[in-house]
Amino acid sequence: MRAVVVEEYGAFNSALVKELPDPVPGPGEVVVMVKAADVNFPDMMVIEGTYQVKPPLPFSPGKAAAGVVELVGESVTTLKPGDRVLACVEYGAYAEKLVARADQCHSMPNEISYVKAAAMGLVYLTAYFALTDRAYLQPGESVFVLGAKGGVGVASVQVAKALGAATVIAGVRDAEHGRNAECLGADHVVDLSVDNLRNSLRDAVYGMTDGKGCDVVIDPVGGDACAAALRALAWRGRLVVVGFASGDIPEIKASYLLVKNITATGLQVSDYRDRQPETFAAAQAALFQFYHEGLIDPYVSKTVPLDRYAEALDDIRSGRVVGKVILDVDNGH
Ligand SMILES: NC(=O)c1ccc[n+]([C@@H]2O[C@H](COP(=O)([O-])OP(=O)(O)OC[C@H]3O[C@@H](n4cnc5c(N)ncnc54)[C@H](OP(=O)(O)O)[C@@H]3O)[C@@H](O)[C@H]2O)c1
Repeated sequence: MRAVVVEEYGAFNSALVKELPDPVPGPGEVVVMVKAADVNFPDMMVIEGTYQVKPPLPFSPGKAAAGVVELVGESVTTLKPGDRVLACVEYGAYAEKLVARADQCHSMPNEISYVKAAAMGLVYLTAYFALTDRAYLQPGESVFVLGAKGGVGVASVQVAKALGAATVIAGVRDAEHGRNAECLGADHVVDLSVDNLRNSLRDAVYGMTDGKGCDVVIDPVGGDACAAALRALAWRGRLVVVGFASGDIPEIKASYLLVKNITATGLQVSDYRDRQPETFAAAQAALFQFYHEGLIDPYVSKTVPLDRYAEALDDIRSGRVVGKVILDVDNGH
């Protein structure tokens, strides 16, 4: 089988596409024939060796893949060869075959394509846990999503609506992406590229929430946008720190938390996969159900073959991706 292989930590485009022996499942594991692999912002950090988890060398990057179970290891009772699954792993998905723990593989409904399922892999679960387990979103509340052009942002807009948010506000940096966010479910759009974001953002969000402020902020961006969004929260609002796509880790002023009874919290989705596999599986099942009901629909703006993984990552780093870019592994050779 062929796989993208990182032999040394380095530039995100320095991994090689190599021929490797087919993997064999150990006890409790399955081998998945990958049809589509998810490409994510953190994959770059994993290849560069700057991510919080550094896989042992050599390894294949990639945190999720959709495909078909080929082999099952000893003691696996929940899956059989031929099952369509979405595998959510720490690394290994940029490959034609992937070994995963059986409890990391989620049966896919027949109606969802491999590409769309792979696109759900990391960011929809991130959005789901951020909104439910960190923000305790209640039906009828308002949600402000920063970075609403990107993977986490688009997913958060759609999952917030699916969970019953009354108002979802998308924060973007240009008008075209604002229109796209509205097409994908946002009720309002705010421009994060304006001068004096600190005051203008609060005014804009207050104007869209009857002067109340938003109940929840989902922040995959960080930097000035995070600091400004904190001021746009309502009394008892919740800020969920998800990532730092701006490259700037913000400092949160504790006085804001006190004055409006605000909660600032963080989200690391892989912890749920490793610490609470049953909760993780239930979340994925809920997301597939939302898809079935037409409440969410992953937006894939580009697919590329496995060999062009570096182009996909470069598109993410350069801000050229709207929604998701996916490796179409079937067409890779
Ligand atoms: N905590 C977790 O479990 C978890 C899971 C998945 C991802 N993440 C993290 O979440 C972050 C986003 O991931 P993603 O997949 O959504 O990435 P992405 O698809 O590349 O999207 C990044 C978004 O951030 C926006 N952005 C970047 N710099 C900005 C700035 N200075 N001001 C305002 N907006 C800015 C981009 O808009 P423009 O293109 O207009 O700049 C885009 O909408 C990354 O840091 C990633 O590592 C965390």
